[in-house]
Amino acid sequence: MKRKILFVDDEQNVLTGLKRMLRVMREEWEMAFIDNAEGALLLLEKQPFDVVVTDIRMPGMDGLDLLRRIKDKYPQILRIVLSGESNTEILLKSTSVSHQYLSKPCSAEIIKNVISRAYSLNNLLSDDGLKKTLARMDSLPSMPSLYGEIVSMLNSPNSSLKQIGEIISRDIGMSAKILQLVNSAYFGLSREISNPVQAVSLIGMNTIKSLVLSIHIFSWVDPKTISWLSMDDLWKHNMLTGLFAKAIVKSENQDHIMIDNAFLAGLLHDSGKLILAMNFPDKYRDVIALMADGKLDILESERRMFDTTHAESGAYLLGVWGLPVPVVEAIAYHHEPCVCEACFAEGFGVLTAVHAADRFARSIKSSPSLNGIDGLDMHYLEKVDCGQKVEFWYDVCMKVFREEMLK
Ligand SMILES: [Fe+2]
Ligand SMILES: [Fe+2]
Repeated sequence: MKRKILFVDDEQNVLTGLKRMLRVMREEWEMAFIDNAEGALLLLEKQPFDVVVTDIRMPGMDGLDLLRRIKDKYPQILRIVLSGESNTEILLKSTSVSHQYLSKPCSAEIIKNVISRAYSLNNLLSDDGLKKTLARMDSLPSMPSLYGEIVSMLNSPNSSLKQIGEIISRDIGMSAKILQLVNSAYFGLSREISNPVQAVSLIGMNTIKSLVLSIHIFSWVDPKTISWLSMDDLWKHNMLTGLFAKAIVKSENQDHIMIDNAFLAGLLHDSGKLILAMNFPDKYRDVIALMADGKLDILESERRMFDTTHAESGAYLLGVWGLPVPVVEAIAYHHEPCVCEACFAEGFGVLTAVHAADRFARSIKSSPSLNGIDGLDMHYLEKVDCGQKVEFWYDVCMKVFREEMLK
């Protein structure tokens, strides 16, 4: 089936340029072009679209207002801004209503890649209702204590970007949001960033202040609403997995890009639990109850209740936000690396490190030795030529763990 994409821009010559540039996509995409937001809404009432790509500044209803209405009424539609906007405040506001931001002029190749990637993510989730709920999310909650720390630090005249970056890199929600932003075309970077500290230093103090204090890009969750899910344990486990994955990649002498990707993927690998628990607290409480019976493991319990898993839901949302592909892939397959066919060909990678790191971090309290680690997919590890590395990685991670305990 052809994908349906709607382009909205008040300037006729921009629409004509897009039409000409994207003619090559006619076989795969059905495209509509319209020069005003009101008309776009009328068109959406008449026929379904998968993606809307819109300008921001338009007479009458502007692009942000249009996207806000689409977010409410048609949350499953992927919302992309394509703009030449230079007003920082308007641009930053667009991050709460759009999934991705592209800046004008934009090549056909970039538009094609962004849209195709979003489609491949679509295959991760089969349930349209769940997709709608997730596509509506514009932030992942932060740990209240870390959120409080960041706000007071931003209000203090003596804080440094490095200190702020370090707090952000300890939090799932803040790291995910900052990396969505820094990887959007707004910052015009030629490479993908996956290090939260670096992201904060690139964004700069003034922008970080307005993002957090006036635009409120971060949110926090009241732990009482999901009291049966220990946020503290979830945060500690994710952080440890991030540190372990980073140490494993370092021990393999890989470059800093893979090291950063591994830390971020580890830090975010179980964010899907939080996403499902927050949006469907009653159902997720049943998942925990099913596991407590001991008959089903976490993936089986989640599939029974949601027809998907925390790994797939987390990867879907962070993928739609435009986080780097190796990070999204590692999140999607961290329990079942064998399912990712493309990953075998690559050999050792972020997924390999996150899979092992997660298993080590999960078992660390219950098992004092490598023999007691369960859930390691040895078949996959042998296939990517890493079967004999596991013992060495385990020792590397135990060293990191002991150092962390001393802090
Ligand atoms: Fe997991
Ligand atoms: Fe985990």
